[in-house]
Order: sequence, then structure tokens, then C-alpha cells
Amino acid sequence: AKLVPISPAAAHDLDGLAAQVAQCRACPLGEHATQAVFGCGRRDAHVMVVGEQPGDQEDLRGLPFVGPAGQLLDRAFGELGWNREQLYLTNAVKHFKFELRGKRRMHKTPGQREALACAPWLEGEIRTVKPRAIIALGATAARSLLAGPVAVTAQRGQWLRRSDTVPVLVTLHPAALLRSQSGDDEGEYRRWVADLARAAAYVG
Ligand code: URA
Repeated sequence: AKLVPISPAAAHDLDGLAAQVAQCRACPLGEHATQAVFGCGRRDAHVMVVGEQPGDQEDLRGLPFVGPAGQLLDRAFGELGWNREQLYLTNAVKHFKFELRGKRRMHKTPGQREALACAPWLEGEIRTVKPRAIIALGATAARSLLAGPVAVTAQRGQWLRRSDTVPVLVTLHPAALLRSQSGDDEGEYRRWVADLARAAAYVG
């Protein structure tokens, strides 16, 4: 393989970042994943949506949010009158972290080290897309975006501000809704869509 220096700071556009992240070995995840999953959507989107990491299907297809969590996200976007083409969707961590159970690849939450190692790619996307607002889905995204721990259940629906001044709306990750045992799935879902709706003024 051709050896190229990996430097998120040196890439000036999304294609350059995507080409480089594919070879990133700043953490061990890239060794085991099928491929890096970079962001997709509108290159000058006003709103960037950030998840945790690719899941099994995203890892295989090389696209973010194409599995069950992505379907729930699309349902919410549909209700809000948004579509993916208006947005830029990405993840805090670009390679799938999993544990093998038999033949099944079970999702493992990325650790701080992996999230930190991956942060320069996300920052590169933010520098390039220049969103007016960012939606953080879940704690991993919120922590990477805000460079510190965020209590998502306490702060959901709130706007927090990054050091570069871009506002970040924090809410639950769709996978948390899919796992929810609250017994009020519809209520949980409605509350989540209401959180997302707080970014409506920025979309478009
Ligand atoms: N969950 C995420 O956080 N991101 C994806 O792309 C898919 C599932």
C-alpha cells in the first residue's frame, strides 16, 4: 500500500478527509472494521447530525445511519419535514467497534481514547462544512463535540455552545430509543422528535 502521511489538519475538503480517514490507525479500531464510514450529505449543510459510530450495517455499506437507528432517524426527519439531502450526517467515531459473539458482531461503545483519536476527523468535517448548528445524538457525540462529559438525559433538548461558538443541540441516540424499556415507546419517541424539532429553524 502507498504510504501517505495521515493528517486531518492537512486535508482541505471532505474528499481529502474521507480518503485519509480510510487509512487512519490512530486507534486500533481500523484494523478490525470493514472500512471507515465517513460523513455524507450536503457539503454546505446548515445542520450537521453527529452519531456515535457506524453499526454493523454501516460498516458493511460504508455509509452512516443505514441500519435500524438510521431508519428511526429517517422517520423522525420525515415527520419534521427534513430530508437527509439537506443535512450532513456523520459519527464521532469512524470505525465500527464490536465484539465477536459466535459469528455476530456485537456493538461495543467506543471508549474515550478512540473518541479522542477520532476527534480530528470530526473537527475537519466541521471546519469544512461549517454548519450553523450541530445535533449531538447521544453521549459519545456530545462529548466529542463539546470536549467534555455531557449528561445527556439531564441536558437533552438544550443548546450548548462549542468553543468555536457553534451551538450543539443534545439529545438521545436513536439506538437508545430502540433499546428503551420504559414501556412508553411512543412517548419516548415523541419527546425525542420534540428535541430534534428545536433545530428546525436552522434546517434549510
Ligand atoms: N449509530 C450511529 O451512531 N451511527 C450510525 O451511523 C449508525 C448507528
